[in-house]
Amino acid sequence: MDYFALRNGVLHAEDVSLPAIAAAVGTPVYVYSRATLERHAQVFAEGLAGLDAPLIAFAVKANPNLAVLRVLARQGYGADVVSGGELARALAAGMPPERIVFSGVGKTREEMRQALDAGIRQLNIESEEEGRELAELAAALGKRARCVLRVNPDVDAGTHDKITTGKADNKFGVPIARARELFDALAGLDGLALTGVAVHIGSQLASLEPLEAAFAKIGALIGELREAGHTVDTVDLGGGLGVPYKAGETYPSPAEYGAMVARVTKGWNVQLVFEPGRVIAGNAGILLTRTIRVKRGVAHPFYVLDAAMNDLARPAMYGAWHDIVAVEPSGETAVANVVGPICETGDTFAMGREMDALKSGDLAVIRTAGAYGATMASSYNSRGFVPEVLVDGDKFAVVAERLSAAAIMDAEPIPDWLD
Ligand code: LLP
Repeated sequence: MDYFALRNGVLHAEDVSLPAIAAAVGTPVYVYSRATLERHAQVFAEGLAGLDAPLIAFAVKANPNLAVLRVLARQGYGADVVSGGELARALAAGMPPERIVFSGVGKTREEMRQALDAGIRQLNIESEEEGRELAELAAALGKRARCVLRVNPDVDAGTHDKITTGKADNKFGVPIARARELFDALAGLDGLALTGVAVHIGSQLASLEPLEAAFAKIGALIGELREAGHTVDTVDLGGGLGVPYKAGETYPSPAEYGAMVARVTKGWNVQLVFEPGRVIAGNAGILLTRTIRVKRGVAHPFYVLDAAMNDLARPAMYGAWHDIVAVEPSGETAVANVVGPICETGDTFAMGREMDALKSGDLAVIRTAGAYGATMASSYNSRGFVPEVLVDGDKFAVVAERLSAAAIMDAEPIPDWLD
């Protein structure tokens, strides 16, 4: 459910018409709906209402825009961060350190120090090597780093290979069979307060079954760790719930997810942490683009948009489907190839797709672009970075300015000695 809908034949974000945004800000532009973000945040939290005071930490990687993070902070959300940059953003957006968790296999010493200085809730450590380094650093600073051990449960999430994280040969976490041994080695170190475990098996999950299988393995591990005398007071269950990218698709709801979690985690007696990203932000954003021209093709016309793979990488990177609709649909449909202007065949949003007919100059929308959209942009082909707009009722504001190709060029000095 989102707040992007046709009104009098024109697509609106809440009460703002998209042509008004295109006229004021130009295209391409990402547009986020505050009401949709808040609704998703509330529906997800309500799904977990049966649990005892869970911490919901938005996966900042999905959408790190400061205004978006501020909206979620006001909903009581914390943050799951994976870099010093994301940590700084979460703090700048007003997320309290005690609601911030730090994941990732490659935290640098500098990032660990940043996390310890900020006093975040926990670091999710992903290897024995990382645990020892963190312990040493924290001890040198006279601190104890609160942390949990991320385990890899060797469960296939059944999603795209590039976004699967919980199989044995993925780089994430430590094999669950070694968790006990690593607790024995790390929990006693001076600089560490290792008091829990974390798991995240992948993203865009279409079924709850792999999650349930992973969580059941965690349940068994908790018993084993406690039996060995370790404290387990926190379990971080990660993110991963999928969202519909095609009109009419259905995915497990937060309520179904919450009911499954409540059933599987009954009696665990821990604080649960969740790291949802896509399910909160995905359908709260769209990419608004203009048709540069319609080029004749052999089988189908090419709709050449002013948005490209550098602005929204998912179709090129994962072959992902995103619905594409006209902002002012004429009622006519066509079968078309939808492409961007970049000089790569992969710069394709759709092939042979039946969709709203577009003509040169028409505005169109690529839907479900609020998660892993703007944040994965690059400046390939010297195209600059697309601006972002947040809509709230009948008002809107630019929440990320367009970073023009010229501005990027300004940051590239040519050394004198080349002359
Ligand atoms: N927690 C951890 C440790 C993660 O690695 C991720 C996502 C999440 C939480 C949030 O997962 P979500 O709830 O959003 O599924 N760029 C890809 C998705 C990469 C996801 C990486 N990790 C895409 O566009 O589909």
